[in-house]
Amino acid sequence: MKQPSAISLENVSFSYDKAIVLEEVNLILHEGDFVAIFGPNGGGKTTLLKLLTGFLKPQTGQISVLGHTPEKARTHIGYVPQTTRLDKQFPITVEEIVQMGCLSKASFWGTLSKEQKKDSLQALEKVGLLEIKDQAFGTLSGGQAQRVLIARALVSHPKILLLDEPTASVDPQAEEEILSILDSLKGKMTILMVTHDLQTILHRTESLVCVHRHVHLFSPSQVCEHFGLGLYHSPLIKKTLSKDPL
Ligand SMILES: Nc1ncnc2c1ncn2[C@@H]1O[C@H](COP(=O)(O)OP(=O)(O)O)[C@@H](O)[C@H]1O
Ligand SMILES: [Mg+2]
Repeated sequence: MKQPSAISLENVSFSYDKAIVLEEVNLILHEGDFVAIFGPNGGGKTTLLKLLTGFLKPQTGQISVLGHTPEKARTHIGYVPQTTRLDKQFPITVEEIVQMGCLSKASFWGTLSKEQKKDSLQALEKVGLLEIKDQAFGTLSGGQAQRVLIARALVSHPKILLLDEPTASVDPQAEEEILSILDSLKGKMTILMVTHDLQTILHRTESLVCVHRHVHLFSPSQVCEHFGLGLYHSPLIKKTLSKDPL
């Protein structure tokens, strides 16, 4: 039996200024699903994630996250942004970065409870980096930095985890490490991951979402090698929409 919907978008359109980025998006994703989001650069993937967090608002349409508006649901969302440029010299430890994930629930003075400090250490354990908690964030490899940012997103026990290209600029071994962390989280929360690497994600996902101004939902079996090669040409999408086999 399908789980209730975690995310629903109804006739959602968004533009930053005049140029429309997402048009008439209708999408339903279910609780506990592992969803891959793909599509060409500039297609609107990051914009879609920002709409789900409530950081951007659609000009038209309705978005519901866990049955609420994105703003209300935000405390249940963990977000790993596309790139986080932190000054390499900035003296902040791995543990402090993870603790930033608690800030929305911190006291007025920004102090963290014992429980929140414990949660931060547990999140670091989940991504296998507890032993480097005191290391400066700026000294980490790209893959380690991504895992710390995943820990930061996990620290507040999210029901939905959004990851924007977490494996984009890491080596294959680091990519495997990140994917195995996500494997361990699969089913425990709804996971939406933007990626260009469909080959490694295909067997892990329940559904794939192609974002290319319009948004199309596919099952893994519908995604053919053309998509895997990054050719998002419109005849294929039209063909799929007309329900013809690929
Ligand atoms: N802050 C912004 N202001 C204006 N245009 C933006 C902004 N962010 C993104 N865009 C534009 O919106 C479109 C979609 O961007 P984005 O959602 O980042 O795509 P993707 O993540 O799929 O590469 C692109 O044309 C991009 O240039
Ligand atoms: Mg993007």
